Amino acid sequence: MKESYTHGHQTPVLNAHQQRTIDNSAAYLRPYLAPGMNLLDIGAGPGSITADFARLTGKVTATEIGEEELNLCKRHLLDKGLTVEQGISAKFSVENVHHLSFSDNIFDIAHAHQVIQHVSNPIQALTEMARVVRPGGYVAIRDADYESFFWFPASSKISRWRELYLQVARNNGGEPSAGRRLLSYARQAGLSGARFTTSTWTYTGEEAQQLACSWAERIEQTVLGQQIVETGLTSIQELQEVAQEWREWGSQPGALFVIPHGELLWQKP
Ligand SMILES: C[S@@+](CC[C@H](N)C(=O)[O-])C[C@H]1O[C@@H](n2cnc3c(N)ncnc32)[C@H](O)[C@@H]1O
Repeated sequence: MKESYTHGHQTPVLNAHQQRTIDNSAAYLRPYLAPGMNLLDIGAGPGSITADFARLTGKVTATEIGEEELNLCKRHLLDKGLTVEQGISAKFSVENVHHLSFSDNIFDIAHAHQVIQHVSNPIQALTEMARVVRPGGYVAIRDADYESFFWFPASSKISRWRELYLQVARNNGGEPSAGRRLLSYARQAGLSGARFTTSTWTYTGEEAQQLACSWAERIEQTVLGQQIVETGLTSIQELQEVAQEWREWGSQPGALFVIPHGELLWQKP
């Protein structure tokens, strides 16, 4: 099945992803983190969550789909001084979550944030994550649920943006509403007894405005907009109108945007 990463790794995407921390993106996992743990961060992206993990556990392996993408995370950890000299063991590996190159039972935690929504076979991905975790260790996954996003004031053009995003993400082999499906994926992968929780990102005031500008830029400047037009889903003109609407919507004083997520935590017996 076709699979490609919908967002790409251009600047507006990286700027948005670099805001992520354990506090805002992996709080459900925090009680299980301890110094000395060997943590695998799959699809680490620009690495801001990975850096937080490194500070807490001292031992991380970050993966990405290619060398170029992996270098983003490497550079971030270096920039933050998270090096061997500071007592941090950071390893980096190009990996596809469907076929991890690691031996069985070696990590204390296998973590993936906003990755499973982009993969063509989430059941296989979870099976692989479970394989590389040691007995007693954890698989930890968090994904947004695009069809649950809500915002105010209403905007038909932002509704249209979501419709286009859902189509392009599904054309790319992903499931943008993976959040609600995580527990079902776990059952199908044989991960019984997994715990499912939810949490949200909430944007108001200046943060809503920044989010709106970020989506406008992502439509105008990244592979996302290109893919929407190239796959014939809409015209460049409609996309420009949607980008413009994002900016206008975000500048309204009461604008708010909420992104619900599903979270899965499974302990290997
Ligand atoms: C939305 S980003 C999330 C980055 C990071 N985890 C974060 O939350 O900031 C998703 C990442 O998953 C990676 N990815 C996509 N498909 C993948 C696959 N099949 N296996 C492993 N990683 C994948 C992408 O390259 C991308 O960097």
